[in-house]
Amino acid sequence: MIATAPGKIILVGEHAVVYGRPAIAVPVSQVSARVAIEDHANGLLIRSRDLNRIDRYSDLDPTHPLAAIIRLTLSTLGEAAAPKAILTLDSSIPIASGLGSGAAVSTAIVRALAKYYGRNLDPAVVSSLVHEVEKIHHGTPSGIDNTVIAFERPVFFCRQPPIIETLSVPRPFRLAIGNTGIASPTKNTVGDVRRAWEADREKHESLFDACGIIARHARTLIESGETHHLGPLMIDNHRLLREMGVSCAELDALVEAALNAGALGAKLSGGGRGGNMIALITDETEARVKESLLNAGAPGVIVSEVSSQ
Ligand code: PMV
Repeated sequence: MIATAPGKIILVGEHAVVYGRPAIAVPVSQVSARVAIEDHANGLLIRSRDLNRIDRYSDLDPTHPLAAIIRLTLSTLGEAAAPKAILTLDSSIPIASGLGSGAAVSTAIVRALAKYYGRNLDPAVVSSLVHEVEKIHHGTPSGIDNTVIAFERPVFFCRQPPIIETLSVPRPFRLAIGNTGIASPTKNTVGDVRRAWEADREKHESLFDACGIIARHARTLIESGETHHLGPLMIDNHRLLREMGVSCAELDALVEAALNAGALGAKLSGGGRGGNMIALITDETEARVKESLLNAGAPGVIVSEVSSQ
């Protein structure tokens, strides 16, 4: 029994989305989390291949993210006891880098358990289970990660009022995703933005408003196939995120390297202060932008196509 879930990247609107402004996120199928479940006589074991460890489900603290997602899923499936099985986790998604590794692992676990019991859970149900666990990882997550990963489609997302709309992408476009190699837990930058907002609400509300306008405009461009015009919006969004204090020298250097190599736009993506940045590329600029990001210090670059699939 095997289930998978893709990574994700935020196109525009991170941080502001925590404060009720819309954001757009897209799945990244080049990286994924994979969960296999096999019967096993001795209670439920969890083998994390990347961390090279095996845990007994009954030994894990109930607030441990793996224990929490298993417990919530079993309860949703109406299963009183854990299965006698070994659950093996593999993930190619770098941790704490804005690619949604936690939400993808949780999503793959929910899907694998549902499959194990011969059930099919609606993406909205999967998303809300994963959101509960994201709260353990992130404190006050907006819910965008679990949504885009559970639905596996580009989404326009707003927390309050709740809007989850999958986007049609008549003209697919391509992103280069450049890694800084710096792990940066989202909880930290989200906490720092909250403190900055508390200290100067007026300034931050207007930064968030500007991000919201960018997300709405980006949606119009994506749905009308004018994706080559997304570049300036990404550049503006990066400037606003810098003003929020969530960029860093390494992210700024990668953004500049991408733009110098001809990318139409570039910005940090996700929590910031490390993790990944994204650049809007075309057939003509792909090789140059990739090379420029690697020369500027990115340990890895993923190219991902954004489409309705
Ligand atoms: O770093 P990531 O990809 O988990 O993205 C976090 C996005 C934030 O807007 C900063 C936080 C959130 O919960 O939406």
